[in-house]
Amino acid sequence: MMNPFVYDIPTKVYFGPGKLEHLGTELAALGKRVLLCYGGGSIKRSGLYDRVVAQIQGAGLELWELPGIDPNPRVTSVRQGAQLCKEHGIDVVLAVGGGSVLDCAKFAAAGACYDGDPWDFSTGAATPQRALPLVTVLTLAATGSEMDNGGVITNLETKEKLGRGYPCMQPKVSFLDPTETFTVSRYQTACGSADILSHLFEIYFVTGDESMYMLDCFKEGMIKTVMKYAPIALEQPDNYEARANLMWTSSWAINGFAGAMQRSGWSCHPMEHELSAFYDITHGLGLAILTPRWMRYILDEDTQGRFYQYGVNVFGLDPALPPREVAERSIDLTEQFLFQTLGLQSTLTDLGIDSENFEVMARKACGGKILPGFKHLTPQDVEHIFEMCL
Ligand code: NZQ
Ligand code: ZN
Repeated sequence: MMNPFVYDIPTKVYFGPGKLEHLGTELAALGKRVLLCYGGGSIKRSGLYDRVVAQIQGAGLELWELPGIDPNPRVTSVRQGAQLCKEHGIDVVLAVGGGSVLDCAKFAAAGACYDGDPWDFSTGAATPQRALPLVTVLTLAATGSEMDNGGVITNLETKEKLGRGYPCMQPKVSFLDPTETFTVSRYQTACGSADILSHLFEIYFVTGDESMYMLDCFKEGMIKTVMKYAPIALEQPDNYEARANLMWTSSWAINGFAGAMQRSGWSCHPMEHELSAFYDITHGLGLAILTPRWMRYILDEDTQGRFYQYGVNVFGLDPALPPREVAERSIDLTEQFLFQTLGLQSTLTDLGIDSENFEVMARKACGGKILPGFKHLTPQDVEHIFEMCL
């Protein structure tokens, strides 16, 4: 029987150029004192910072800032954000940037309503019951953080990168203007596209009772969308159609709709979070390196049907070919897309990573026991997959 589910995606989205003119009104409806969170300066270079500040000032709101949020956002920034909110009686948190900025803002918004250390929300030691309202302005199509309630925070001291989601952290309003992603570099465009694809693979490669025909078609359509438009965005960074398709797919890949029936966990993401925690690498790059290895490792009699469907429906492979051949070809084509079309580095060795920490990383990825997914993985399995990436 197919799994029952709840549909609830309470983020209001403004999509397209010009919609930022509603930012001031939306913020004003949520409060008077705004904390603006952003990263290392891309929004200043693009002019978005000025447009956002103009909206805040135009609406007569008061502004505080949390700048300098790093990729793989640190818990230190989260703590700083929560502290600023408490000190200044902030009413609403505004995140302007990529997934790292949005994730940090989510945990800071929850930390603002909590007496303890907001890292507790990442470890699961505490569950946030409340958070300040969050508004986002997205500048990079990748994580889907603009329309989900999750976030991933890094603690450099403990070498942990932990992802958690809580309903109170769901953005109230998100502004998605594809033209704001015209300035995203070739590398970050490729990594973001690999991340979107991985979100789709994590929910596409599931057992029969975890999906339905309608959702399969939707997921296959989104996978094809990324494969069609990412190469165009790489060659023509200001191609609106390509950027718009990537941006809206980034939101829908992970906003809870397409994966609603899934019960089993994700596979490549927990493995990648260990890579980022130990080596501070770009999330999408780590996923790209892991994905084809994971696929090859789990391909067997039980899983090949799903890879066959993927090969036929996404790559248009001949359905009359033997299922194993279609499955293997589909993995070859995935690999080709990630490393040749997107041009991403293909091995951990390329990134200067060796096997030194694989055992401990594998154990952590499995939470000490097992990584439950499309195919359950033991720490030994995960270690083997890391080794395949060398
Ligand atoms: O810091 P700035 O100067 O803004 O530059 C950023 C950063 O260097 C730059 N950038 C962003 N928008 C730009 C731009 N450069 C030029 N023009 C623009 N318009 O891109 C760099 C990377 O930014 P980052 O926010 O780190 O990228 P991304 O959006 O890929 O976020 C990655 C983080 O999100 C987490 C990842 O683990 C990682 O920590 N994830 C969050 C998820 C979620 N909330 O649901 C799910 C994902 O699976 C993922 O784990
Ligand atoms: Zn991801």
